[in-house]
Amino acid sequence: MNSQKDDSTSAWKCYFSRMRILSGIQPSGTLHLGNYFGMMKPAIELQEKGEAYYFIADFHALTTVQNGIALRANVRELAIDFIACGLNPDKAVFFRQSDVPAVTELAWILSTVTPMGLLERCHSFKDKTARGLAATHGLFAYPVLMAADILIYDSDIVPVGRDQKQHLEVTRDIAVKINETYGSVFKLPEPSIREDTAVVPGLDGAKMSKSYGNTIEIFAPENALKKKIMGIKTDSTPVESPKITENSSILGLYKLVASETDYQTMEGEFLRGGTGYGDFKKRLFGAVWDYFAPFRIRREEILKDPVFVDRVLAEGAEKARGVSDGVMRRVREAVGIG
Ligand code: ADP
Ligand code: TRP
Repeated sequence: MNSQKDDSTSAWKCYFSRMRILSGIQPSGTLHLGNYFGMMKPAIELQEKGEAYYFIADFHALTTVQNGIALRANVRELAIDFIACGLNPDKAVFFRQSDVPAVTELAWILSTVTPMGLLERCHSFKDKTARGLAATHGLFAYPVLMAADILIYDSDIVPVGRDQKQHLEVTRDIAVKINETYGSVFKLPEPSIREDTAVVPGLDGAKMSKSYGNTIEIFAPENALKKKIMGIKTDSTPVESPKITENSSILGLYKLVASETDYQTMEGEFLRGGTGYGDFKKRLFGAVWDYFAPFRIRREEILKDPVFVDRVLAEGAEKARGVSDGVMRRVREAVGIG
């Protein structure tokens, strides 16, 4: 399959219906617009088109969140927020990574065929250590665990943001190594990266990311959200002059949340001049606030039932183990353990 054809078109519907779609997200902080448009929204749309398995990557989060109470709270909050944003537990299997402990066993098996050089080339380890994270073995081996996450469910399609593309390449390389060593054990998964939202811009124009402190949180209270959006970095072009549209965070974000007509109007005003950045930001705030309004309502509903999320994750874990048990039997048989 060609990953350039990722956008969901009707022609793909029948293809996806036979596909297993898998993705994970780390419970490492509050969800932002980059997470939503880069990973969650595509994953939510794909849940209609195949057998979806989505999980909360708490084993991965241990590489950065080293406080048990905080991690547990993050997992719960992420589960609530993901469901509020549209993940439908009746359609998608939704679970916690650590509820399928066999994934760490598979990660070890995969690590025995993974060349060091493959991991040494990974950007994410280099980026994270450059930012001051401790260069632990867990951080270095992170892509191997991610490969195990994907391969243990015989996944076909993996919707992620562009920053995860290299990890998918590593996953495929590892799967090929195992297949070369032990015969045909694994399917080769494909990333699904939506080009229209591959990189959501942050408040400063760089990629929106927790680590850059330039995020807009999906469920931020009204005043906090307004303050953030009004704080978007802009240049000093006078009100009456035309504004640069290229790489504008305001336009980039507005495109995601506004109607096509409203977007065209704003783009036209950028090009014509006569409107100040403050006005554009106010309109962007209004559009973001309205876009997420139904999600806020759903979130309030979920919060009223304190055991709902636990029940969803427990049922999801059982279904996930149903698949992983079968794959692990195949793996153990092939490699000669257990
Ligand atoms: P962060 O960079 O804030 O730490 P994560 O690395 O936890 O975010 O990302 C979780 C998911 O959200 C990944 O699939 C990632 O590709 C996606 N994602 C995060 N930020 C963006 C962004 N700015 N644009 C597109 N996708 C993003
Ligand atoms: N590494 C991903 C991220 O930081 C999270 C993740 C872990 C994942 N395992 C995965 C994503 C398997 C897709 C498939 O966002």
